[in-house]
Parts: sequence; structure tokens; C-alpha cells
Amino acid sequence: MKILVTGGAGYIGSVTTAELIRTGHAVVVLDNLYQGHRDAVHPGAAFVEADLADPAAVARVFAAHPDIEGIMHFASYTLVGESMALPLKYLRDNLVNAANLLEAAVGAGVRRFILSSTANLFDDPARMPIDEHERIVPGSPYGESKFFIERLLHWFERIHGLRHACLRYFNAAGDLPDVGEDHDPETHLIPLVLQVALGQRPHIAVFGDDYPTPDGTCVRDYIHVVDLAQAHILAMQALDRLGSRKYNLGNGQGFSVLEVIETARRVTGQPIPHVVGPRRAGDPAVLIASSDAIRAELGWVPRYPDLASIVESAWAWHRAHPHGYADR
Ligand SMILES: NC(=O)c1ccc[n+]([C@@H]2O[C@H](COP(=O)([O-])OP(=O)(O)OC[C@H]3O[C@@H](n4cnc5c(N)ncnc54)[C@H](O)[C@@H]3O)[C@@H](O)[C@H]2O)c1
Repeated sequence: MKILVTGGAGYIGSVTTAELIRTGHAVVVLDNLYQGHRDAVHPGAAFVEADLADPAAVARVFAAHPDIEGIMHFASYTLVGESMALPLKYLRDNLVNAANLLEAAVGAGVRRFILSSTANLFDDPARMPIDEHERIVPGSPYGESKFFIERLLHWFERIHGLRHACLRYFNAAGDLPDVGEDHDPETHLIPLVLQVALGQRPHIAVFGDDYPTPDGTCVRDYIHVVDLAQAHILAMQALDRLGSRKYNLGNGQGFSVLEVIETARRVTGQPIPHVVGPRRAGDPAVLIASSDAIRAELGWVPRYPDLASIVESAWAWHRAHPHGYADR
């Protein structure tokens, strides 16, 4: 299948591109390099530097590649905290960019679409782990923008027959040896902890240790980026057979911030000092996914279900590329 990967120069999109090519698919990557890196794009993929905000540029991609059969849409503004300061960057731009993509896609006759959605849809979960029946309460304009796009997809299916899967990831982590996470600013716990191990930061900040969790720090569910990529490929392949789907994606197991730091100490052999500060506004105490639905329906089985193997793969990437793609 030929797949258009938007945001394929970014963290999850670049790993998914590599996995798609490894499994025999053809890939066109569209990215404006706002966060992504040209060197992150697999050499076997066609690369188009374009902005989803530019409908004519998006239409040109489909004109140049009329055989695109499916889309994986990773390109987005992604920062929860920034979305609280700049809500329209998310509520307007993420939505308009997705709408531009969808308009061009149905115009070109594309019938399959996978969306990178988020655990930030579940700010007030009634049950843990969180399954697909949980009430949607976006935790920020970022989460709301993903919900808007899920709703766009609902209508594009009813009106245009576009089949879609919304994959609500919990915390993506881990890397491939040569393709990995390189964000500026970096906001994710595991790369930040590893930056301390590399001597690039003096300590890791822990935001609150008075949550109702066993050690008082927030508990999150970490999923390896390769397992996420695999879920995208399975979901794309199943759309014709199963129709549109929504899946929560995690390992079904939670780890506290202190457990992540301790795991990184063991993996790296470095002391990794931490400093406890006040809580950060808007952080729920515990977020754990139930991925029973995708396991049962698509046969998805994570290759990296344990935190240590996730951190080991991240350490291998960060140690070999302490300055990210600047080191390649
Ligand atoms: N990283 C996580 O833990 C996580 C968790 C849940 C959901 N997600 C979602 O997964 C997707 C990928 O996340 P990531 O961590 O790889 O992010 P990323 O920032 O590394 O990748 C996003 C890519 O999209 C590109 N992009 C942004 N706006 C664009 C535009 N207007 N036109 C073209 N390209 C554009 C960026 O340059 C970047 O390469 C995002 O949609 C994010 O919201 C990520």
C-alpha cells in the first residue's frame, strides 16, 4: 500500500515510516519541519516539505502521488502546556490543518485514515484502566483539538465514506537505534531523565509527590514507539474488514515518575538526581490505558511491554546521539 505519513519527520511519524518501509509499504512523508528533522525521514520514503496550512500545497501532494491509498496523520501541534497559553494554535490550527488534509484526501479518492489521538481526551476518568467507553473530557485545548478531529472524521465517514481509526496513545517512549526522539523543547519524562544521565541537565524536576499514588508521584502508561507503529499498520490493514475504530493504546501498566527515574538509574548506571517541586496544573494522578480492544480485534501484541526495555532502547539512541539529529 502507498501511505501518506504527515509529520513523518517527527518522532512517532519517522519511526512509523521506517516500520512501514521495513514491512514492504511505499511511503510519502509530508512535513513542514516545524519540529521534525529531514534526517529522520527514511531514505526509502518520498519527502515533501509542505505545510498542512497551505491547501494548494497539500493538493499538489495528492496530484503527484495519485496512488496514495491511506493516510497516517501525525502532524500536529502537540504540547499540552503551550495549548493552555495559546489555545487557538490548537483549537484553530490543528483543526484547520486536519480539515485541509481531509478535503484533499477525499478529493483524491483516499478511503483510509489513521489519526494520532491522545490520552488527553480523558481528564476525568471514572475507571482505571481507561477503555474506549470512557467519557471524553479533554484536559486542554490540545486534547480538545484532537477530539474536534475525531468528530471531523465521524462526519467524513458518514458523508464521504472515509474509514478511519483514532488511536489514543498514552505516553510514547523508546527509540530505534538510528531513529529517535529529538524535540525542542523536550517535554517528555524519559528523554529528560536521560539528558540528566548524559550530564546535559543537573537534575530532573518531579512535579508533586503528594498525589494519591503509592509513592505520591504521578503514574503514567508508557508505550514503545515501535509498538505504536505496529498498531498503525495493523489498524490500516483492518479498516476495510472492520470499519472505523477507536482504540486506546498503552501497555495497561502504570509507572510512577520515581519508578521511571529509578529504572533509568539502573539502565544508565548514572545517579540522576531529582528535585521535587510543586504540582503542575492539570496533571491527573493516574493515567493507564486498557488496550484490550486492539489486542482482541487486531491481534496487537506489544514487543516492549516492560519499562526497562523501553528505557534501554531510548538510552541506546540518546547515548549514540546526545544532540539528536545534529549528531548524524
Ligand atoms: N509523543 C507522545 O507521547 C504522544 C502522545 C499522544 C499523542 N501524540 C500525537 O502523536 C503525533 C506525533 O507526535 P510526536 O511526538 O511524534 O510529535 P512531533 O512534534 O515529533 O512530530 C510532529 C511532526 O509534525 C510536523 N508538523 C507540525 N505541524 C505541521 C504542519 N502544519 N504541516 C506539516 N507538518 C507539520 C512537525 O514538523 C513534526 O515533524 C502528534 O499528533 C501528537 O499529538 C503524541
